[in-house]
Amino acid sequence: MRGPQAAGGRWKLIVGFAMGFLCALIISPSWQGGAPGATTLLVQQREQTAAPATVERPPLHIVTVCSAPNQHTLNAQRIAESYRTKIEVQLLKTGGIWRFAPHLAWQEYCQNLTDAGRGDDLVMFLDAYDVVVAGKEEDIVDAYLATVQGSRTKTGDWPLLFSAEANCFPNETDGSSRACNTTGWYATHRPTDTPYKYLNCGSFMGPAKLIAWLIKENRARPDLDPNQIDQGFFQEVLHDMGEYIVLDHDTKVFWAFYLRKEDMECHSGKGWFNNLTQTYPHIIHQNGGPKDMIYTHVFPSYLNALDNTLPAPACDTILH
Ligand SMILES: *[C@@H]1O[C@H](CO)[C@@H](O)[C@H](O)[C@H]1NC(C)=O
Ligand SMILES: *[C@@H]1O[C@H](CO)[C@@H](O)[C@H](O)[C@H]1NC(C)=O
Ligand SMILES: *[C@@H]1O[C@H](CO)[C@@H](O)[C@H](O)[C@H]1NC(C)=O
Ligand SMILES: *[C@@H]1O[C@H](CO)[C@@H](O)[C@H](O)[C@H]1NC(C)=O
Repeated sequence: MRGPQAAGGRWKLIVGFAMGFLCALIISPSWQGGAPGATTLLVQQREQTAAPATVERPPLHIVTVCSAPNQHTLNAQRIAESYRTKIEVQLLKTGGIWRFAPHLAWQEYCQNLTDAGRGDDLVMFLDAYDVVVAGKEEDIVDAYLATVQGSRTKTGDWPLLFSAEANCFPNETDGSSRACNTTGWYATHRPTDTPYKYLNCGSFMGPAKLIAWLIKENRARPDLDPNQIDQGFFQEVLHDMGEYIVLDHDTKVFWAFYLRKEDMECHSGKGWFNNLTQTYPHIIHQNGGPKDMIYTHVFPSYLNALDNTLPAPACDTILH
């Protein structure tokens, strides 16, 4: 596993390693307790960081896969670190299939963790450059557990939780995806009152061993194009093995806000508020271009706070 590739990466690597060791000591990797109703409360009370007594939080690994780190990945790491949250950067292989299929990188990363006996660890994969992580690891994990509560898979795992967006892609206009078919698969199989209806794989999380297994199983299918782009791949997985996947329709953890900028309110010192779902999501992703909002508003609202030691987000510094 690679550490951060950025300047100062060695230092971060050592700290990350030490923290990982501490986590391994404090948090038992095998935990069987179900999430009690109390976790729901944590979604509303983000200030509260104590875990519900009967649930042990699995460790969380946050990973972005990209072709080259740049100022945006550095900024994202800096913002995350202000919450003591670490984003690992994995480089896409320059040749071969990884370039087209980050899900192969995801599979390898999760298989390695599983082989190391850490298959129950949670892994979150993020797109690069246009995602902000603004939350403490324990709050992110609690929001995940509260969202997937009651949805254990038949393998006994927590399911994967994917961000949900307002646009179904790839669909019949841009490529095959049976879930995005205009026959209305989503309306029948994933009904929701929110406009955040469709799977987005630019941010998702789940147990390492389940991610590795789902990708491996589905890549082996003769009916699926092994070079399908990542989101098309997971639309197919959702269509055929949907019992392993929950979509974050209420933006409790993830907010893929492209096409829904009208829901965004900056609340100083609290976060970016989704005034439709009434949540402060931890992961904020502009999952479609142009990337105006993420670069002129979301990133600066956190970076300005770091520079001036204001509470984040510093909304007054970006809104006139
Ligand atoms: C997985 O482990 C192999 C063998 O140690 C290593 O070569 C590879 O880089 C690892 N991959 C990832 C994505 O961590
Ligand atoms: C299908 O994809 C295209 C291109 O991304 C998009 O413009 C269109 O709105 C999509 N259709 C639906 C039903 O989401
Ligand atoms: C959408 O569904 C219809 C009816 O089942 C089917 O004929 C068509 O091939 C599907 N389109 C895609 C892109 O899968
Ligand atoms: C939600 O926020 C947007 C942008 O800040 C604002 O224009 C809109 O009126 C708000 N909607 C509600 C229902 O409060």
